Amino acid sequence: MTELAEILRRRIALAGPITVAEFMTEALNHPALGYYRSGKPLGASGDFVTAPEISQMFGELLGAWLAERWLVLGSPQRVHLVELGPGRGTLLRDALRATRAVPGFHEALELHLVEIHAGLRDVQREVLADYATPHWHERFAEVPSDAPLLLVANEFLDALPIRQLVRQPWGWAERQVGLVHGRAKFAFASAPGKSPLATLLSEPVRTIDRFGSIAELSPAVTSLTSEIARRIAASRGAALFIDYGYDSGTNGDTLQALRAHKAADVFEAIGEADLTAHVDFGAVARAARQAGAAIDGPTAQGDFLRDLGIETRAALLRPLATPAQAADIDAAMRRLIDPGQMGTLFRAIALRDPSLPPAAGFI
Ligand SMILES: C[S@@+](CC[C@H](N)C(=O)[O-])C[C@H]1O[C@@H](n2cnc3c(N)ncnc32)[C@H](O)[C@@H]1O
Repeated sequence: MTELAEILRRRIALAGPITVAEFMTEALNHPALGYYRSGKPLGASGDFVTAPEISQMFGELLGAWLAERWLVLGSPQRVHLVELGPGRGTLLRDALRATRAVPGFHEALELHLVEIHAGLRDVQREVLADYATPHWHERFAEVPSDAPLLLVANEFLDALPIRQLVRQPWGWAERQVGLVHGRAKFAFASAPGKSPLATLLSEPVRTIDRFGSIAELSPAVTSLTSEIARRIAASRGAALFIDYGYDSGTNGDTLQALRAHKAADVFEAIGEADLTAHVDFGAVARAARQAGAAIDGPTAQGDFLRDLGIETRAALLRPLATPAQAADIDAAMRRLIDPGQMGTLFRAIALRDPSLPPAAGFI
């Protein structure tokens, strides 16, 4: 058992079962032992590979998307460019390299990175050194609100905690993490009685009556996206979220652990494996709209990237590449856009100040 697992085991033995959200929060964000404080998440030697790490085209196209939003904002002289969870800084590096020629854009940018992993902050500082001196924050609320906002977040929302409900004969009950086998092992349990959270489920999910069905809610995701939408409505701007998830209904139990590129048991290596859940994009859209932003999407990542011109970009890169590199460019593009790979499960959604025209990528 990991050190963090033992801390959690003792806590549950003393005080009783905890919610899935409390479990995720501890496993990922425990100040010393949480996965996103000290783990080795990204890259070939890490636990998973993300879209910007697959191809430079991803960050370049997102850079063009951000520059277009800045232009339609009227090219403000100051803008807060925020990335939530920038990982190794690859997306921003490619975005900034691709937009160097947009007159006035880089001069207007103040870069803010919301990142809790100290080791990744060091990597980001180094990777972005040629472009900007970022300001780091523990949370979005710390980003100043005295200029319009341009925000991007790839595979960030899936790392935020979810609550789970399980359908019992008497209604929806909260799914919890408890202990079995003489309090030696973790196991899922169902809280007694009905959960008041059930009232927050969307209509088609609330009425599911198959016992054992699981529904998920993420107050962390909806409160963050509401906060960003309020900021956009008040200070102008736009935000783009890309992640894996679903647009309506429920995907059932989507809590998953990943370690060294392989699925793992969620209780196997607490603090040493990534834990994620699918993002409910319908809930994001509802929360952001209620908070005053206009919404584009959600749409499939494949359609989004195709609309932004990934095939044209690949065709421009190919003649500059060796035959082996050209094959890599094509393979990376297919991985990002093919429905059987990341093209459909990954979704994109954009928030904007309602006075702005709809964003590119959402035809
Ligand atoms: C799955 S990685 C994605 C990295 C990057 N966006 C990419 O696409 O390669 C998640 C990123 O979010 C950061 N992170 C996770 N939870 C966070 C939190 N609660 N607050 C701030 N950063 C967090 C991680 O350290 C990491 O940089």
